[in-house]
Parts: sequence; structure tokens; C-alpha cells
Amino acid sequence: KLMKVFVTRRIPQEGMKILSAAGVCEVSLWDSEEPVPRTELLKGVQGAQGLLCLLSDKIDTEVLDAAGPNLKVISTLSVGFDHLDLDEIKKRGIRVGYTPDVLTDATAELTVALLLSTARRLPEGVEEVKNGGWSSWKPLWLCGYGLSGSTVGIIGLGRIGMAIAKRLMPFGVKRLLYSGRTAKAYAAEVNGEFVPLDTLLSESDFIIVSCSLTPETQGLCDKAFFSKMKNTAVFVNSSRGAVVNQEDLYQALKNGQIAAAGLDVTTPEPLPTNHPLLTLKNCVVLPHIGSATYSTRGIMSDLAARNLLGGLQGTDMPSELKF
Ligand code: GLV
Ligand code: GLV
Repeated sequence: KLMKVFVTRRIPQEGMKILSAAGVCEVSLWDSEEPVPRTELLKGVQGAQGLLCLLSDKIDTEVLDAAGPNLKVISTLSVGFDHLDLDEIKKRGIRVGYTPDVLTDATAELTVALLLSTARRLPEGVEEVKNGGWSSWKPLWLCGYGLSGSTVGIIGLGRIGMAIAKRLMPFGVKRLLYSGRTAKAYAAEVNGEFVPLDTLLSESDFIIVSCSLTPETQGLCDKAFFSKMKNTAVFVNSSRGAVVNQEDLYQALKNGQIAAAGLDVTTPEPLPTNHPLLTLKNCVVLPHIGSATYSTRGIMSDLAARNLLGGLQGTDMPSELKF
């Protein structure tokens, strides 16, 4: 008898092909580019043995209860897992798959692009060209901040943080600081200096948040945090929006406490179009596209499908989350 699987969104064909070729499951797909409504999610998981979900699906007690006792595996098409209630999942003995490593390069690349766009004011420049604001080459116009000779601070030097650091060093970065729970031996590859957060904040010209969202990092970037940064520093976040207190960030940007911010993640997502942050020229907001290359999304889809199959069949999962 085929096992029942619910897939919460249209995903790249790579994963769907693997699921159908395996011949062990019957896939029910929320066949849309838009998120599955909560009521449909609760219906879709009923009796499912496998769930393939996205970071926009909150998997909590209600969903797990709706699924019932047959659910064996949750495979998320993401490296982040803050949308999963791991305590409840563990209690029920459900295995979890996720997609680390395969999206590291794409996400690091996007973070560097966002940092440069924010520091060198690319969106403002593009806008001026279109709206007729470009009247001449002007010595004082649209100046920003460069990486050469700078100090970069990375909060959370994990897989992605490290890949960001490696990409930034060739720009002539002078010092690379990082903070987090523990010093990392591999930081030597980028001459990374493990420093207390306060030191990182006061000495860095660029601050990049690349940690995961946990109770410890939730709201980490608040009023006190921004007040310790240089007035000329640029802040970049490509991890999770909830690491930042957005009201405090807005005030810091508005008051000139910090120079600029580039965000690939916000709370909520999508950010409402009337949000105060979007009125600021020194804030660049992207719609959570860190891993969005054709190739990376295809590979994520492939991996998520293989994780799901491993969980369904009780065999190894290529990327199983240990929790
Ligand atoms: C993206 O944010 C992911 O967690 O994969
Ligand atoms: C800039 O284009 C310069 O020539 O300085």
C-alpha cells in the first residue's frame, strides 16, 4: 500500500520526479505558487506519513495532531528550522530532514550582493537614473562605504557565515571579527578573530547577521545593539527577520545611529508595503531570496525529496536534522 505524502507547495520538478519514481508514496500536492491556507494544510496532512513543507509553513501541535499518529517524517525545503516545533516533533518520534550545505554558496553570494548594494546605494542610484535625479557627475553625490581596509563583523560564523567571510576577504577587508557561542577552529582560514559581541559592534564597519533564530538570538539586534555600532556602519541580515527588532532598527536608521541596513529577511514576510522601513532610502529590503538560484532550488528540491523517502522507508536520510 502506497504511503501518503503531503507537499505544501509547487516545488522544482527535481523533487517531484524523485517522489514519483520511487513508487512508494502517493503524493498530494498543494499545486500553487502561493502558501497553502492553514485550513487546507490541516486537511492535507490528515493521515499522512510524510510531509514536505517550506519555511513559511508553521508546523506546530495543531498540524501534528491533524496529521495523526502515522506521520513519520517532516522534510523541510530549507536550512532553517525555526518554523518547526521540535519539542513536539521529538515527543512523537518524527524524523526531520532539511537542506544545509546545498544552499550555502547561493546564500553567501546574495548576502555579499546585498551588502554591496546597501553600502554603495545601488537601489537609490537606479531610482535616480529613472526619475531624472541624475543631473551630472557630482563629487558629493551618492557616496557610500567600501570594503577595502574595513573591519567586518559576522554574528554566527557557521557554514553560511564562513562562506560570506571567504567571499569578502578578496575585497581587501583588513579585519574579520566574529561572535557567537564558541570560537571556531576553521575561522583561521579567514583570520577570523573571536570577540565579544560588544567589541564586534563597536569596531565593525559592516555587521552581518548569519546566525540561526533561537530563543537566544530572537530580538538580539535591538536599541542597545544598534547604539553600540558606529554611525558609519552598515548592517546586513540574511538569516531570520526575528533576530532584529524592526522598530529599533527603524529608529537607528532614521536617527543616523547607523548608516544603512540591507535585509533579506523581515517580520512578517512579506513585509507590508506600508511598513516604515520601506520609507527609508538607507534601507534595502529583499524578499527572502538568499537561496534563489535556479540550480540551488533544484538541488534543494532533490534533497528534500530524498530526505522524505529516507524517512518514509526508515533508512538513512541524506540530511537528517539531529535534535
Ligand atoms: C532559507 O531561509 C532557508 O532556511 O533555507
Ligand atoms: C570616474 O568615473 C572618474 O573618472 O573618476
